[in-house]
Amino acid sequence: MIEDKEPIYFTSEPKDAARKPYYNEIYTEGDWNDRERKRILIFDTTLRDGEQSPGASLNKNEKLRVAKQLAVLGVDVIEAGFPISSPGDFEAVKLVARSVKGPIICGLARAIKKDIDVAYDAVKDAEHKRIHIFLATSKIHMKYKLKKAEDEILRLAVSSVKYAKTLCEDIEFSPEDASRTDRYFLHNVVKSVIAAGATTVNIPDTVGNITPSEFARLIKGIKDKVSNIGNCVISVHCHNDLGLGVANSLVAAQNGAGQIECTINGLGERAGNASLEEIVMAIKTLTPDLTTNINTKELYKTSRLVSKLTGMQIQPNKAIVGANAFAHESGIHQDGMLKERTTYEIMRPEDVGVEGTRLVLGKHSGRHAFKARLKRLGFILKEDQMEKAFNRFKKLADKKKKIFDEDLEAIMDDDILKIPEELRLIHFQISSGDKIKPVATIEVKYKGRHYKKTSTGDGPVDACYKAIDKVIKIGGKLLDYQIRSVTSGKDALGEVSIKIASKGKTVSGRGASTDIIEASVKAYINAANKLVYKSPKQ
Ligand code: KIV
Ligand code: ZN
Repeated sequence: MIEDKEPIYFTSEPKDAARKPYYNEIYTEGDWNDRERKRILIFDTTLRDGEQSPGASLNKNEKLRVAKQLAVLGVDVIEAGFPISSPGDFEAVKLVARSVKGPIICGLARAIKKDIDVAYDAVKDAEHKRIHIFLATSKIHMKYKLKKAEDEILRLAVSSVKYAKTLCEDIEFSPEDASRTDRYFLHNVVKSVIAAGATTVNIPDTVGNITPSEFARLIKGIKDKVSNIGNCVISVHCHNDLGLGVANSLVAAQNGAGQIECTINGLGERAGNASLEEIVMAIKTLTPDLTTNINTKELYKTSRLVSKLTGMQIQPNKAIVGANAFAHESGIHQDGMLKERTTYEIMRPEDVGVEGTRLVLGKHSGRHAFKARLKRLGFILKEDQMEKAFNRFKKLADKKKKIFDEDLEAIMDDDILKIPEELRLIHFQISSGDKIKPVATIEVKYKGRHYKKTSTGDGPVDACYKAIDKVIKIGGKLLDYQIRSVTSGKDALGEVSIKIASKGKTVSGRGASTDIIEASVKAYINAANKLVYKSPKQ
């Protein structure tokens, strides 16, 4: 522990009362805690607290990938790790500090000289660097975990900040378990560490044990009662044990906090930390007097990256980034959405980097959504055809949870439209092998005329498709090609399903045969007939 014989600061004013927070030099003039349309700093701790999620550990290159994406996202601070905790974490923080420009790179430390030295060593090469010191101040933690009394904790807090300040200008201090700390003692600690040089004081709700109204009172109390609070940024760090992390962070920002600590996808110890994407979108959507620097269009991408690298799946109904966050299934909702998007959407999916609203067709969907989807697929039906198609769809939806575009196309092709076979296969022949370029000859009948065409290709299927293209000039893009065995055994029937995009339309095709090349050709011809049917002028 740091030895410090100097007096404790808890009754004195800062030596240099005019000293402005470090951030003001970087971002703005004025007091962070009192600005109009105040910009809330986003402190991302995915790589530190988030990585403390059981099973979510990342290696140093993965941490670097996430940190680079966080910089693109526009976070103000990246807490890259807890350097003393392991050599791997030290290396990762160092790599991030050296490689990522823009945000402040922060390393966590206990109020211990060795921790502070190691944290500084890890971040010292960063363009902007910060040391974040934490020390518990609640009675429970002081008594059982640290076995120290209040005056010793206060002395340690002050001396550790003063020591860190000799290494680094930007110092954050966290009285751990602040929400369960005696308020009078908390105010003394906050005032003392600011006087000792802390530029940010973070108020953690370490165990997610406070209500929004009480947390608002706590932050307001610090702002009103700690006389030197204007010299630092008030930060908050809320855990989600009762699902209140985001709500608590938001009320804190509305009551004087200038920085919010959070994680992508809400990763973190136990039930996690307040989720960055939820906080940022809540600020953007609900609080006109607050703003952040986040490029919200990068949120979805960042969330996917973190999920992929940590292996932590995102629940489908997760706000902002879940697979269903912009999906609507009920008939009433889909009808509302088709009439006016804002009936059931308070944010635009594009604003968070999601491609678009999804109207999921299922058993709750109504006629309006069904008709709109068919129209998008290029099917315009007469009244009686629509009625028949809708009844077929409802029957299928009772058996199948989700109805995909391919299912609708199958209903259309098989039951409703009976697409005419303008293009018909007469014969095909291929020569292929590992040492020769595949060649295919195709004989087809197209609109009553007989054609025979030959082509080479990258493989026998490609050669066949190119030969057919010489007849009807599909010229499209093969989006998907799948082959599966319908029956078993060596002479199994193979079914090929393909999807082609051509001239602004997407169609699927299916073909079955014991010969997979023949199945592939049939699938292509099936798709081609649909394209011809949908674009009759061709
Ligand atoms: O939850 C907490 O109190 C922390 C501190 C280290 C800030 O993570
Ligand atoms: Zn935490």
